Amino acid sequence: MDAMALEAAYHYLQRAVGHGTSTEALLLTVLLLLIIRLAWVRAFATTTASTKCKQQLPPTPPGKLPIIGHLHLIGSHPHVSFRDLAAKHGRDGLMLVHVGAVPTVVVSTPQAAEAVLRTHDHVFASRPRNPVADIIRYNSTDIAFAPYGDYWRRARKVVNTHLLSVKMVYSKRHDREEEVRLVVAKICELAMAAPGKALDMTELLGGYASDFVCRAVLGESHRKHGRNELFRELTEISASLLGGFNLEDYFPRLANLDVFLRVVCSKAMGVSKRWDNLFNELIAEYEHGKEDNAEDFVHLLLSLKKEYGLSTDNVKAILVDMFEAGIETSYLTLEYGMAELMNNRHILKKLQEEVRSQGKKLDMITEEDLGSMAYLRATIKETLRLHPPAPFLLPHFSTTDCKIDGYLIPSNTRVLVNAWALGRDPSSWERPEDFLPERFLQDQDGDVDTQMRGKDLRFLPFGFGRRICPGMNFGFATMEVMLANLMYHFDWDVPNMVGTGAGVDMAESFGLTLRRKEKLQLVPRIP
Ligand code: HEM
Repeated sequence: MDAMALEAAYHYLQRAVGHGTSTEALLLTVLLLLIIRLAWVRAFATTTASTKCKQQLPPTPPGKLPIIGHLHLIGSHPHVSFRDLAAKHGRDGLMLVHVGAVPTVVVSTPQAAEAVLRTHDHVFASRPRNPVADIIRYNSTDIAFAPYGDYWRRARKVVNTHLLSVKMVYSKRHDREEEVRLVVAKICELAMAAPGKALDMTELLGGYASDFVCRAVLGESHRKHGRNELFRELTEISASLLGGFNLEDYFPRLANLDVFLRVVCSKAMGVSKRWDNLFNELIAEYEHGKEDNAEDFVHLLLSLKKEYGLSTDNVKAILVDMFEAGIETSYLTLEYGMAELMNNRHILKKLQEEVRSQGKKLDMITEEDLGSMAYLRATIKETLRLHPPAPFLLPHFSTTDCKIDGYLIPSNTRVLVNAWALGRDPSSWERPEDFLPERFLQDQDGDVDTQMRGKDLRFLPFGFGRRICPGMNFGFATMEVMLANLMYHFDWDVPNMVGTGAGVDMAESFGLTLRRKEKLQLVPRIP
């Protein structure tokens, strides 16, 4: 029976009931009505489902295999594989791939990014479930992995308003300067003790970012009992567990297998226990000295818990986010920036001229001096264009069906925005592979900041829309003052190549963040 016939019968019986008959007949009619209605609903549902199947999904590359889908087409650098596959098989910036059991839409043009992150932002603002984040981030009640909804909104508001606001970032400037001063003193000491000897810049910059984030989160006690080291270690282990293309994300049934539970989950549980012990120590200290008005994140979050309806575990989960999102992103960008400058000495020279043009000999460049340094800011942006630390942002997830350019993106689809590909697209950027900070000085509006805020969706190192990175100002401030001082106090060389102008290897490895394969070793010289 087709849906129209069912509907006609349904209306006929409805009228019969309306005209009044015996009770028996009435009951029978009601029963019949129910049966017909059920059949109609089923018929309607089947029709809708088959219409949905017929609706056009985004184009998909050929060669999909049973079980693994397109997994075999993805190399060790998925952002590169997806860029190349999308260029060949995608359309309108959209491509559907099946990575294991999970349908994933890859977004590769500014127009498609605009549709996902601006026009239909509300549909794509959620995150797919992640079994490891569930363990390490207290059932994903942090911000980055929390599904879209009321909890995420509250958690994000507390962080936006109280921890990462422009005012708060500014208030931390002296702490930042002090951490930079320590690093500069260390480099001076090593350069004088062993001239020409290479320094492990990866370690040094990683230590700086970690110490500063630790200081912001823990306050004055951040170096107590080597806590900064411990937090750094835990951050690295957690990032390695969450990084890259994890099989459990793409074969959700794996998450229930004994072998997965034993190997991945037990490691995640181990690290989660260690986070938890540390947080319990910090909370006990807070309880002990409640009256002090310290402005570190632990104090702030615990004092705001009630107002925002957060549990102690929620506070712990948000703190894990601050460490994990705050440390790697900033130091990897600094490291890439230094590496690009070593490979583009004329830019390094130009940057040094800007930073050293203060006239007088300064003890250090402070944040007050940075206002006039447009080329420094442009250099950091150019680094982020070529080397966004999160090449796919974080995975987005659709909560209802959505149509983009006539293509259906069904609900429960994972969406990866290839920010790395957008930053190198030849139709958006002139000489896209070249490191040219000048391009950010020539913004169409003459305003260098417009591109940072995602007005232009070619440049998305911090994402865009509801899920845009709330730590953008914090991260930028951490990087700027450090890079300025590295340029101000030292000249730089590559080991064994002093004075030759030789560059460094840019080979990369892929995880949750994208990083250089080799540690960055550089020789500082005091000019
Ligand atoms: C160079 C520095 C940084 C870069 C490039 C960066 C980049 C990103 C990106 C790409 C996302 C995902 C956006 C999306 O899913 O659409 C993100 C999210 C996030 N970032 Fe950052 N980030 C940086 C620094 C920081 C810092 C310093 C913090 C905090 C201390 C932070 C906290 C977060 C949080 C909490 C989220 C999750 C937002 C949400 O899901 O609602 N980030 N970041």
